[in-house]
Amino acid sequence: MLKNYKILTVTHKTTNTEDIADFIVPTDDKTELSNRLVKLKESFGFDELMYLATCNRVLFLFTGKIQLDSSFITSFFQSVNPNLAQQPKMYISENVQSFQGNKAIHHLYEIAASVDSMVVGEREIFRQLREAYEECRTYGLIGDNIRIAMRATVEVAKEVYAHTRIGEKSVSVVSLAFRKLQESNVPTSARFLIVGAGKTNELFSKFMLKHDYRNAVIFNRSLGKAEAIAGELGGEACVLSELENYEDDFDVMVVCTAAVEPIITRHLYGKLIGKDGRRRIVIDLSLPNNVCRQVVENFDVEYIDIEKLRQLAKENMAFRMGEVEKARQLISKRVEEFKMRFRQRQIERAMSDVPTQIKTIKSHAVEHVFKNELDKLDPEARDLLDRMMDYMEKRCISIPMVAMKDAYRKLHRQAGIDMDGNPHKK
Ligand SMILES: NC(=O)c1ccc[n+]([C@@H]2O[C@H](COP(=O)([O-])OP(=O)(O)OC[C@H]3O[C@@H](n4cnc5c(N)ncnc54)[C@H](OP(=O)(O)O)[C@@H]3O)[C@@H](O)[C@H]2O)c1
Repeated sequence: MLKNYKILTVTHKTTNTEDIADFIVPTDDKTELSNRLVKLKESFGFDELMYLATCNRVLFLFTGKIQLDSSFITSFFQSVNPNLAQQPKMYISENVQSFQGNKAIHHLYEIAASVDSMVVGEREIFRQLREAYEECRTYGLIGDNIRIAMRATVEVAKEVYAHTRIGEKSVSVVSLAFRKLQESNVPTSARFLIVGAGKTNELFSKFMLKHDYRNAVIFNRSLGKAEAIAGELGGEACVLSELENYEDDFDVMVVCTAAVEPIITRHLYGKLIGKDGRRRIVIDLSLPNNVCRQVVENFDVEYIDIEKLRQLAKENMAFRMGEVEKARQLISKRVEEFKMRFRQRQIERAMSDVPTQIKTIKSHAVEHVFKNELDKLDPEARDLLDRMMDYMEKRCISIPMVAMKDAYRKLHRQAGIDMDGNPHKK
């Protein structure tokens, strides 16, 4: 029944991030993307199509009578990206997963509920999925089938986030470090000395911005990246080689670079704090650590230890994984309900023609079959007949509709859900 729903996908589960890029529609231009997707839909005879591309997932959800065999999958992805034709013969089939029918709906639900994510419980994918849907809708690729599947998907994902604890307890070291910092009640006026301007410190600076910590100086090997963070925060940017000459004070030091030797040595830290030996917070997110052990041992610092945070992140992830089973049970139940919702929708679509068909029969009877006899009737008899015909028309239209609604009610009662497919409130 749901067999026309199909998914072709490449994810972090089968493929590394660099190779996933091979399966993306290769363009950054939205108009070009729209044109290419429309062309794919037409040339492969899909009824509807939705496309999602993130750094660890590419997904094509489509409906139609296509057979998902390996020759179709190969030719489809070679159309998505012609460069794939140069890859070894098995490259496409080794990386692509396919789902059909119930399994496709199940997979869609798992994606939205972040059960299938690289970082289980991160809701970002839910937002990306909804955005992808909206985008494909504006491209004219979506019809009623994907619309009802996505509507159900959004409801299921919200239910999973509300009724399981899958998204609770942070698994990001950066967010855990920031939370630890907040526990120390650092005022928003505190001066931050940030060393390194890579992705990790960039993320850290986003937390700072969100919580209104803007008093910062950023040191980095190359000035450009430090300037980018400083631009966001409204702080100052300096080259790393200038750090030893920094004379202003600081309250919090955040260090994270890819250097393999400590950058904040005992000597440098001593120089930076001068005679003021008061307690400062030092966060080192680098691996290996960029703050020398002797700094922690010889100065009054509240040291936020990356190893402890990593351990906590691991424990939190284990907790989230424990919630996955609950989410899966809920998802399986909802897939069963979607089958019924889909069937209901099909009957509604078939029924939507009934009123027009009855009107056509009536017009045909009046204008052709009984025309001569009707023309001979006096006005009073004609008026009565017209009113009877209108009455019959309305009643005839309502008979199948009422029968259909009764049948739905019965089916839904048996399944324990309301007419929108939601579980009955107890
Ligand atoms: N514990 C965790 O879970 C976790 C999570 C994420 C990251 N990390 C660690 O964080 C560190 C940085 O990660 P990232 O994602 O921010 O990396 P990234 O985006 O690649 O940035 C690397 C940063 O390090 C600087 N850098 C590289 N080599 C350096 C050197 N020899 N001396 C001084 N600066 C140097 C770079 O400066 P330029 O801009 O001048 O190149 C840049 O600011 C790594 O040690 C990584 O292992 C740990």
